[in-house]
Amino acid sequence: MAYYRTPHDVTTLSAWLALKQHRQAMQDFNMRKAFDADPKRFSRLTLNSCGLFLDYSKNLIAAKTRTILVELAHEVGLKDAINALYAGEPVNSSEGRPALHTALRRPVGDKLSVNGVNIITDIHKVLNQITNLVHRIHDGLWLGYTEKPITDVVNIGIGGSFLGPELISEALLSYAHKDVQCHYLANIDGSEFHELIKKISAETTLFIVLSKSFNTLETLKNAQAARAWYLAKGGPKGKLYRHFIAVSSNKVAAIAFGISEENIFPIWDWVGGRYSLWSAISLSSALAIGMSNVKEILSGAYTMDQHFQNAPFEVNMPVLLGLLSVWYGNFWGSHSHAILPYDHYLRNITKHLQQLDMESNGKSVRHDGTPVSTYTGSVIWGGVGCNGQHAYHQLLHQGTQLIPADFIVPIVSFNPVTDHHQWLFANCLSQSQALMLGKTRNEVEAELRDKGMPESEVQRLAPHKVISGNRPSNTIVVEKISPRCLGALIAMYEHKVFVKSVVWGINAFDQWGVELGKELGKGVYNRLTGVEASSAEDASTQGLINYFRSHHRG
Ligand code: F6P
Repeated sequence: MAYYRTPHDVTTLSAWLALKQHRQAMQDFNMRKAFDADPKRFSRLTLNSCGLFLDYSKNLIAAKTRTILVELAHEVGLKDAINALYAGEPVNSSEGRPALHTALRRPVGDKLSVNGVNIITDIHKVLNQITNLVHRIHDGLWLGYTEKPITDVVNIGIGGSFLGPELISEALLSYAHKDVQCHYLANIDGSEFHELIKKISAETTLFIVLSKSFNTLETLKNAQAARAWYLAKGGPKGKLYRHFIAVSSNKVAAIAFGISEENIFPIWDWVGGRYSLWSAISLSSALAIGMSNVKEILSGAYTMDQHFQNAPFEVNMPVLLGLLSVWYGNFWGSHSHAILPYDHYLRNITKHLQQLDMESNGKSVRHDGTPVSTYTGSVIWGGVGCNGQHAYHQLLHQGTQLIPADFIVPIVSFNPVTDHHQWLFANCLSQSQALMLGKTRNEVEAELRDKGMPESEVQRLAPHKVISGNRPSNTIVVEKISPRCLGALIAMYEHKVFVKSVVWGINAFDQWGVELGKELGKGVYNRLTGVEASSAEDASTQGLINYFRSHHRG
């Protein structure tokens, strides 16, 4: 029976019960001591695959922990779940659909049938369509209404239709095609629009409206504003097709908006928004970095797909990362996870992984609708190092919560400035080291006494300077942020998220929770603008509507 049809209560499984017991035994586990006791800990708990080097030795795990976690993965049927995902079974059970982002990475010539159609052929057909457009723009053959080549591309989309493309084009800026600038318009906020139009010219800008549903308020309002701006700048209506293209699975709505049929790139209903960066949704990034780099990203992701499907769980990066997350979330009461890239170009990965993880695993019922009996999705947050060290790392080091962190760092910088990169790398390592080592009371006191401090001062200061340490982290080292590494890295996190969902028995591919806000938004808007007089269901919302109405002049 498919895993998504047979709900399991993970908390009743024997490996889960064994983990509960094991957690008790691990109460006094100390990483410092574990490293002292086992000179091979680093080599035992590191992996090198798909261009990524993963050090997970700084975790609250003993040899037995990994064994039981892997048992849990087997007990929940992870192997079958991976196969079901790749084979296109309806793993998105509430919507009765497959989740086939892995198919988007498969090489030409492969076969995968969905409803009797070999989708790999379709995928590569669209890739060729994208290649054609990218070449026409890069070669100056796609001209704006005054016959000038396109110099700026605006990605109009939100959520998965924004975060993934932005991540790719920013992360791979060193690979960018210098003649095309990429811009992003996501929020329904006039200021964002206002700042964007200062940077572009209607004559030489291509707007790409990206919306799988073509029904997303923010995207449609921004697309309308962009079109009105284009017309106001003197752009002829008859030449709109040179300035507006779309990526959507809702062709009818895109045509109704005014996009020419031949300018609509398809996306399929079996790709979720937050998994869509492998599809035509990344058209703006393709224009930024060129098709050969896009193919490298896909191929990097494909190597990770192979690794995830074939590597034994004990040496499987996404499996281990997912299981570690379960270990901390469900057995150590840790409810958030920090993503800390030590690379300027990778600074947007935290935002992308936030949507990926939180929209996927922010669920409280299992596939069959029964409530989960344990904690599920974590809060994903973080940001680029070293900046974070001077902002929120304090809470990681001395706060009362246990927050595991992923440090992501390249060996090579694209822009060496004296010894900046050595310092950046050193800071990355010293942060994970500090989280693990901490500073004991004895060490603190000895340090203060060495400075000649009077004993009363030593005793007064010592408690503030003690750092518990023993705080877990993973370090992911890549040679450099290349298209191939980036593909593998993002795919690794997608699979990690999937592993957790399988353990908890939840659907990682729907997002019904987001819908309520959208539905209520229309009513609030109508009352705010006076279209509807009836009052909101609650006094707070109505009071705020009244406050807006009495203060808003415009
Ligand atoms: O926020 C909900 C959501 O559906 C995301 O899952 C998705 O990435 C985003 O909205 C954008 O959706 P669309 O591409 O259909 O405009």
